[in-house]
Amino acid sequence: MTIRVSPILPGFGAEVSGIDIARPLDEATRRRIAAIQDRWGVTVWRDTGLDDAGHVAFSRLFGRVELAPRHTGKPSRMSEPELFDASNLDLEGNIATNESIRLGAKGNRLWHSDSSFMRVRSAQALLLCHEAPPHGGPTWFADTRGAYDDLPQSMKDRLEGLRATHSYFWSRRRAGYPYTEDEIDAKPQAAHPLVHVHAGSGRKALFVGAHTRDIVGMDRADGRALIDELIAWCTRPEYTFAVHYKPGDMTIWDNLCSLHRGGEYDDSLFRRDMRRTTVRDPQAPPAEPDHFTRMFADAGDTPFSPTETTRERVMAAS
Ligand code: OGA
Ligand code: MN
Repeated sequence: MTIRVSPILPGFGAEVSGIDIARPLDEATRRRIAAIQDRWGVTVWRDTGLDDAGHVAFSRLFGRVELAPRHTGKPSRMSEPELFDASNLDLEGNIATNESIRLGAKGNRLWHSDSSFMRVRSAQALLLCHEAPPHGGPTWFADTRGAYDDLPQSMKDRLEGLRATHSYFWSRRRAGYPYTEDEIDAKPQAAHPLVHVHAGSGRKALFVGAHTRDIVGMDRADGRALIDELIAWCTRPEYTFAVHYKPGDMTIWDNLCSLHRGGEYDDSLFRRDMRRTTVRDPQAPPAEPDHFTRMFADAGDTPFSPTETTRERVMAAS
């Protein structure tokens, strides 16, 4: 077996082939895959042959697989508790017309790092395509290590020691969800350094995206200007590429050294069935197994099934 690694950008993103990842892997191969992921940050695997159970099983190679957020009394389309439904489909498998699901999808089109709003962050995300639209519907990726390396020294000095707050509800507001700043203040958020060392490579990376709300200790307007400047810097063409999918294709991205966003396609006309697992940051402090569900419960809200009041406000605002 020869593992082939074909870089997409010179230092970021690679297509990997030559391994059948739907079968059990020996320890040496598992270590090799983890090392490739650490080095390239985003990997693309074509025609994997993975089903739901195989997707979850393969994800365990990278560590502890998160439980996806669930809502009591609300059934899920997913067969495994670890699978997050990143599709545009409703429970019956039809194209969703629910405004909340559609706004969630709009939020996904903003550059972000999954779960940066959690105190305990996620590292790898594994997104498997089950059904792809005929045109478009890619995922875009951006290299936050390369972007950090290329910052002018004056900016590196300015960022040293800064921390930022991250809120799920803030990024929904960015996407058009009618939360007020006061409402967001009352909901859970997390703070993380703006620059951190990516443990898998020892390289520094920017940690900023659509969930990033304020810079701790900085005037709000100045902080937001800096956040937007850094996101724009990381997502310049030289740091980005898109992956287009066919059913069976999978991308794995490391949220701690990359940003991503869903690409454009007509989600009211075309089905796009994508399912994702997420692996908890191996460096993270302990947290309860179902920490997403807890966070949303603490927020008095649910991510994809809003209360009537929220729904009414979304309808009124759209
Ligand atoms: C996600 C995500 C983008 C896409 O699942 O976290 O951002 O292209 N997906 O579906
Ligand atoms: Mn995402």
